[in-house]
Amino acid sequence: MPRPAQTIEFPSRAGSRPAGSGLPPTHHLPADAANDLGSCSFWVGDCRELLPRIPAVRDRRISLVFADPPFNWNRAYDKWDDRMPDSDYLEFTYDWLDLCTGALTDDGSIWVNIPDDWAAEIVVHLKKRGLQMVNWCIWHYRFGQNTTGRFINSKVHALYFSKDPIRRVWNPEPVMEQSDRAAVYNDPRTFEKTDGSPAGLRIPMDVWYGPYWGRIQGNNTERRAKHDNQLPEVYLERVIRCSSNPGQIVLDPFIGSGTTPVIARALGRHFVGTEYSDANAASAFERVQAGPVRVTREPRIMSTAITSRRGGTAAEAKVLRRKEKQNAEGAEGGAEAAKEGKKRGRKARAS
Ligand SMILES: C[S@@+](CC[C@H](N)C(=O)[O-])C[C@H]1O[C@@H](n2cnc3c(N)ncnc32)[C@H](O)[C@@H]1O
Repeated sequence: MPRPAQTIEFPSRAGSRPAGSGLPPTHHLPADAANDLGSCSFWVGDCRELLPRIPAVRDRRISLVFADPPFNWNRAYDKWDDRMPDSDYLEFTYDWLDLCTGALTDDGSIWVNIPDDWAAEIVVHLKKRGLQMVNWCIWHYRFGQNTTGRFINSKVHALYFSKDPIRRVWNPEPVMEQSDRAAVYNDPRTFEKTDGSPAGLRIPMDVWYGPYWGRIQGNNTERRAKHDNQLPEVYLERVIRCSSNPGQIVLDPFIGSGTTPVIARALGRHFVGTEYSDANAASAFERVQAGPVRVTREPRIMSTAITSRRGGTAAEAKVLRRKEKQNAEGAEGGAEAAKEGKKRGRKARAS
């Protein structure tokens, strides 16, 4: 179906907008000012029906959307049919994208987690709607599905778009990591930066990996039972910290195991979201109440360097050996000097 072009409009096609107040949430936690926790509201059902009825969505008060939709990979979701004809899936995708982008504040951003299959269509659609691409990031993981007939999938796209790239909320400092110059190369230039970045730190690159960035599988401490599509906490931590401020509203139309709401609330953002499965929503709500497993209020600074410190053991060992030799020589020299001193002292007393 041809789509209206260019502007970001609140769409009416995906569900009519009720007059008066919004629909009460299915699950709700109020904000907890004493502990700097944001409020959290879930609505259970199809996001296309529910989003137009959520007051913060209707009133365009959403600063950040994070969406990790079903990929149409025939996954055994609790309720959702994950095997639509491609044209229906795209129709569904464009509907929820329009609802979400239509809810953004003028400085708002949307992130979409999506595999190779659909990334191109989503990029084109968002551009047609007048949004600007800020980054096309890759989440790289090293534990995936084994294949022999082609290269193994080891990534998902994290598409970052904003309504206005100049006005958008952008907080680089809380997501910074140790630079390779600091972590690997001992390069003093990283400590004498002129771009305003703190010494030894950098904004992460657009390929994301590192400690805690693997898929949530097996006995991973973050793992929630009965959710096989759970994203790592650090992924949402990065997105939420850099693209929203405490007190702002974050929307996720596909709550799943609840990674977005648990991190949003813990970082003092308010959360609204939808989930098709009532069982998933209930489990996610429990998780939000329990809080995150890894993410802490203050950001942790880590390195994602893939090589060990430059020169590694060989060069360091050489320096160490040289120092030890010097110390030993110094000690020997010192002992000799002490003997000489004593001799001279005895002679002087005798004379
Ligand atoms: C890929 S999972 C999201 C995983 C989530 N990011 C996490 O870290 O746990 C997609 C979720 O969207 C839900 N879903 C599918 N279609 C939906 C729809 N039309 N409206 C709302 N939720 C839907 C599924 O039930 C599933 O829980």
